[in-house]
Amino acid sequence: MFITFEGLDGSGKSTQAELLRSRLEADGEDVVSTREPGGTELGEKIRDLVLHGGHVTPWAEALLYAAARAQHVDEVIAPALERGASVICDRYVDSSVAYQGVARGLGLERVLDLNLAAVGGLMPDRTFLLALDVVRLPERLRREPDRLERESGDFHARADAGYRELAARFPERIVVLDGALPAETIAEEVYGALRVRS
Ligand SMILES: Nc1ncnc2c1ncn2[C@@H]1O[C@H](COP(=O)(O)OP(=O)(O)O)[C@@H](O)[C@H]1O
Ligand SMILES: [Mg+2]
Repeated sequence: MFITFEGLDGSGKSTQAELLRSRLEADGEDVVSTREPGGTELGEKIRDLVLHGGHVTPWAEALLYAAARAQHVDEVIAPALERGASVICDRYVDSSVAYQGVARGLGLERVLDLNLAAVGGLMPDRTFLLALDVVRLPERLRREPDRLERESGDFHARADAGYRELAARFPERIVVLDGALPAETIAEEVYGALRVRS
């Protein structure tokens, strides 16, 4: 099974990805936990260019993320799924659609199409979207912000709107969870939603 976590920075994706990984491993499952836009040597270099470099035009940003994702699917995600592992990925195609497609204004459809081409159509079986009011995000972000995190509140609000548009469009795949709940409560909901499905 291919599972992704989505949401704005500070919404709790990495926390939930880690809680789910340990829970599935405790159940005896083979789990591969990875993150975007990294997970491969090329991807980590691209991540560095996008997040810590200078000015990157919106289309360059979208194409760099898509390039990292193509490599990530080919090297990590597809092989793990083929051998029967569960893959947990912190951010995936929906992130590009929300940030580059909607927040940067490149267009939801165009960025979705670009990414579907890059990943050969491989979409998650289940996506957990952690919804959290944008005003609550700064208190969650204690480390130095990267280039995207330094964007204005408006930018994050537009990305949030993009995520909600995706959730409305793909209701079978995307489960929206209240990111303000305690982490353990959210983890129970995630685990429960996966059990119901299988
Ligand atoms: N449900 C939660 N309630 C309160 N704090 C949380 C919750 N989930 C995560 N956090 C805290 O918020 C911060 C950001 O969480 P993190 O999982 O790193 O978010 P993301 O990966 O989405 O940026 C961390 O300090 C984490 O411990
Ligand atoms: Mg994280």
